[in-house]
Amino acid sequence: MSKIKLQSLAGMHDILPQDQVYFKKFNKSIEGVSHYYGFNRIDVPVLEQAEVFIKGTGQGTDIVEKEMYSFRTKGGDLVSLRPEFTPGIVRSYIEHGMYNLPQPVKLWTSGPCFRHERPQAGRYRQFTQFSLEVLGDKSPSIDGQIIQMSFDILKDLGFKDISIEVNSIGDQECRPYFKKILTGYFRSRKSSLCSDCQRRLKENPLRILDCKEEKCQRVKAGAPQIIDHLCEACHAHFKQVLEFLDELELPYALNPYLVRGLDYYTKTVFEIVEKSENGQSQGTLVGGGRYDNLVKLLGGRDTPACGAAGGVDRIVNIMKTRELKADKKQEKTEIFLAQLGQSAKRKSLKLFEQFRAAKIPVTESFSKDSLRSQLNTANKMGAKWVLIFGQKEALENFITLRDMETGVQKEIPLDKVVEEMKAKIKN
Ligand code: HAM
Repeated sequence: MSKIKLQSLAGMHDILPQDQVYFKKFNKSIEGVSHYYGFNRIDVPVLEQAEVFIKGTGQGTDIVEKEMYSFRTKGGDLVSLRPEFTPGIVRSYIEHGMYNLPQPVKLWTSGPCFRHERPQAGRYRQFTQFSLEVLGDKSPSIDGQIIQMSFDILKDLGFKDISIEVNSIGDQECRPYFKKILTGYFRSRKSSLCSDCQRRLKENPLRILDCKEEKCQRVKAGAPQIIDHLCEACHAHFKQVLEFLDELELPYALNPYLVRGLDYYTKTVFEIVEKSENGQSQGTLVGGGRYDNLVKLLGGRDTPACGAAGGVDRIVNIMKTRELKADKKQEKTEIFLAQLGQSAKRKSLKLFEQFRAAKIPVTESFSKDSLRSQLNTANKMGAKWVLIFGQKEALENFITLRDMETGVQKEIPLDKVVEEMKAKIKN
């Protein structure tokens, strides 16, 4: 039998203990911002009926066409690992009758998503996404608020050189006409397009504007712009969104060719990128927009909506390289519990539990038997105090406290230890 080397799958990575601190910092930021803006957390399943995404994300998107992890269950259902959150959240909004709640319903979530893409820097097959969704409000102020919140989260995490690109891609009123104009433009330049875009010309010419191939970029540079062809309602909406962004003093730029690669968008679309100094860009950090037709498309009532999602792994990658160090202070060990001998070990397990109940962080090393190696570990961790629980201590119910800076030791009765250490950390 050939030996298989077991390793993580391409595009899937472990988040090792030393990196958890960045994710923790990210979670703190999104929880804080979401709470402040009145968003409630929702968690939707990792697996959904494939139809949720085929209809929701869109049949003609790269995600549905090429990147979904879909399979049939033993019961014969076609299911998919979620490639994004929005369709699942909309499905849940409809299923739980959230339209009966006061509108808008503001939701946020975060967790793993899956896309079978070609792995590269900042592009994974399993990645963590956060998502902000507002359902039941058509006001342009919501678009502004979603952009502001996305910006706030990145700012909170120490990002400085971030820029926001915005555009409007119209709605069912104005987009069909614009598509015709665009098709006309690209058709006369068909031979200069990549093979994928020649195909897109038939299915969805807007996608050509999204193509990263250099030859298509050249053709795109002279293409007609949708903002010149918006209907009155879309035009007025977009104008107000931009006024909100001005008022909020957000650093945005109009990108008339920004279309985004998902089918459900109407009106506003936006992306946030970090201006990279060394060319090692992680790509788009946050992307989103309005999706006024999706709830209806998935079987609900006519409900306007707007949202955004961000790539947490990309954000963390930048935090790491830029030394936007997460607050490691919290993780620091102040008290270390060392023990010697069976009876002390048994009793120190109980003492450890008492510290936990009192919410005092203590590091232990129950698996080590030698006092010297435990003191070494405490030293390496930078512990301020070591509580030594030896055979004599266990027998006479006291504990020896060593101040690691001064080397001074003192004895404390066992039933006073928690109290005394509590007072010490406060000082
Ligand atoms: P999206 O642009 O497909 O939008 O993804 C949002 C973000 O997820 C991207 O900007 C990127 O940071 C991250 N992301 C996407 N794919 C990967 C990947 N393979 N590896 C690492 N990070 C990735 C959406 O998903 C929409 N649901 C956004 C939205 C919410 N629109 C309205 N509401």
